[in-house]
Amino acid sequence: MDLMQAMKDRYSCRKFTSKEVDEADVDAIIEAGRIAPSACNNQPWRFIVLLDDDELAKVDQCSKCRYGAQAAILVCFDKDASAKNPDVTPDYGWIDCGLALMQMALEAENMGLNTCIVGAYDPAAARKVFNIPDNLVTYQFLMIGYGEAEPSPMHEKRHSLDEIVIRGGF
Ligand SMILES: Cc1cc2nc3c(=O)[nH]c(=O)nc-3n(C[C@H](O)[C@H](O)[C@H](O)COP(=O)(O)O)c2cc1C
Repeated sequence: MDLMQAMKDRYSCRKFTSKEVDEADVDAIIEAGRIAPSACNNQPWRFIVLLDDDELAKVDQCSKCRYGAQAAILVCFDKDASAKNPDVTPDYGWIDCGLALMQMALEAENMGLNTCIVGAYDPAAARKVFNIPDNLVTYQFLMIGYGEAEPSPMHEKRHSLDEIVIRGGF
């Protein structure tokens, strides 16, 4: 699929069918995250894959935003492994995870799957139910499945270039 088309077509899916997602497809999506760029190439991301009913029930204990997705990835980073430059950002792990997450969302789109990036979850609950060690910082869930809902109006709502581009500095 054309990359720009995939970027346009991807939307936050908020209703998924009960069709199961193949583990091999989830692995292919994670491969897109694995090859993402990261500060100093430290690759601090860790991907917690959640597929079976018990695991998805645990996702529901942390977030109201699974929307029936039959697969989820909780993207985390190892704060002992991420690059730091306090003059620029407190921790590059956040940025690294964002890049991996977006690559995964686009690859899912490319494969005919739908996704929703979900930041509305209880991090303490996630840490507990998935037994996440202290060195990992939880970032976002990527819910994955076969969508049966249309994009929300927000999908079309983007600022114009005039509102966001500053040419030549202020
Ligand atoms: C970091 C981040 C966190 C988000 N968290 C949620 C969430 O918790 N629940 C949800 O339904 N959508 C969530 N979204 C989706 C946004 O609401 C959505 O991307 C935005 O409204 C634009 O719509 P679109 O993705 O359909 O183009 C999140 C998106 C990002 C990038």
